[in-house]
Amino acid sequence: MEIGLTGASGFLGRHIIEQAIAGGDKVVAFSRTPRRQIQGCVRTALFRPGLHLNSLGAIVHLAGESIFGIWTKAKKEHILRSRVEGTRWIVKAIQGAPDPPKVLVCASAIGIYGDRGNEELTERRTTGAGKFLAEVSQAWEAAAQEATTAGTRVVTVRIALVLGGKGALAVMQPVFRLGLGGRFGKGDQWMSWVHIRDIANIFLYAAKTESLSGPVNGASPNPVRNSEFTKVLGSLLKKPTFCTVPSALVSTLLPEQSSLVLDSQRVIPEKLLTSGFEFQFPSLNEALRDLIKVKS
Ligand SMILES: NC(=O)c1ccc[n+]([C@@H]2O[C@H](COP(=O)([O-])OP(=O)(O)OC[C@H]3O[C@@H](n4cnc5c(N)ncnc54)[C@H](OP(=O)(O)O)[C@@H]3O)[C@@H](O)[C@H]2O)c1
Repeated sequence: MEIGLTGASGFLGRHIIEQAIAGGDKVVAFSRTPRRQIQGCVRTALFRPGLHLNSLGAIVHLAGESIFGIWTKAKKEHILRSRVEGTRWIVKAIQGAPDPPKVLVCASAIGIYGDRGNEELTERRTTGAGKFLAEVSQAWEAAAQEATTAGTRVVTVRIALVLGGKGALAVMQPVFRLGLGGRFGKGDQWMSWVHIRDIANIFLYAAKTESLSGPVNGASPNPVRNSEFTKVLGSLLKKPTFCTVPSALVSTLLPEQSSLVLDSQRVIPEKLLTSGFEFQFPSLNEALRDLIKVKS
């Protein structure tokens, strides 16, 4: 299959390219800076309004302003606009193509559920309200769903915390290696996570599995509490985890962004499990062991 991919230069995009090629697919990258050819792709095209998506089997859409950095008013505007506008360009291209992609697999985030305590969050649960990331993800998914008007199947993958060589784990590891790792607040909030190879596979699986449509939780089947995550990472790195970051401190310093570490989301990938998707790394211990190359 020939797959179009926006955000191809990013953390997740690069893994999707690697796994797509390994599975015999071809990837056409879309980037804001196409002069920089993206390794492994058959070509790199400009990601802009008026882009062409004719004759691609699938389009995978990841592009969006990073959520890392301080959430000023301008940054929040970029986070929202880059996702909704970029998705509208894609939907318009799908609607205008004589031979449009059969499927749009669009990124979304588990932040869409808001802060939900112990509730088990399958795709059948309602989305959250009053939180910035919930609102961004809702607007993003709604924009993507418009592609169904052209007969294109739409899947929105609600991505959990991705564990890999970059992203959150790359920020956590040096802190833990210094023996400064610890839980956030009481540590009883649920963390839903997914190994980078599993999430890259989930995007390719969603592109090829015709029975999947609508929201799909891109999380491992075994979410853990923050205290458990801290304990497992500390023990694999053989470092103490006595430190605690008080929730009041995080909420005072970064009132809105504190939701990234304090909100509780116990996400269950019901649609993937029911459809027969097999996770390579269903347990946190095995996922972290693989990523931090622990010798047993
Ligand atoms: N990693 C996670 O833990 C995680 C969790 C939940 C959701 N997600 C979502 O999944 C998607 C992919 O994640 P990632 O970790 O691979 O992100 P990433 O490394 O930040 O890559 C995102 C890509 O989007 C493009 N981009 C950056 N700023 C943009 C802007 N202002 N407007 C349009 N495009 C822009 C860039 O590609 P070009 O420069 O080539 O255009 C970039 O390579 C993101 O939308 C992210 O929000 C990720």
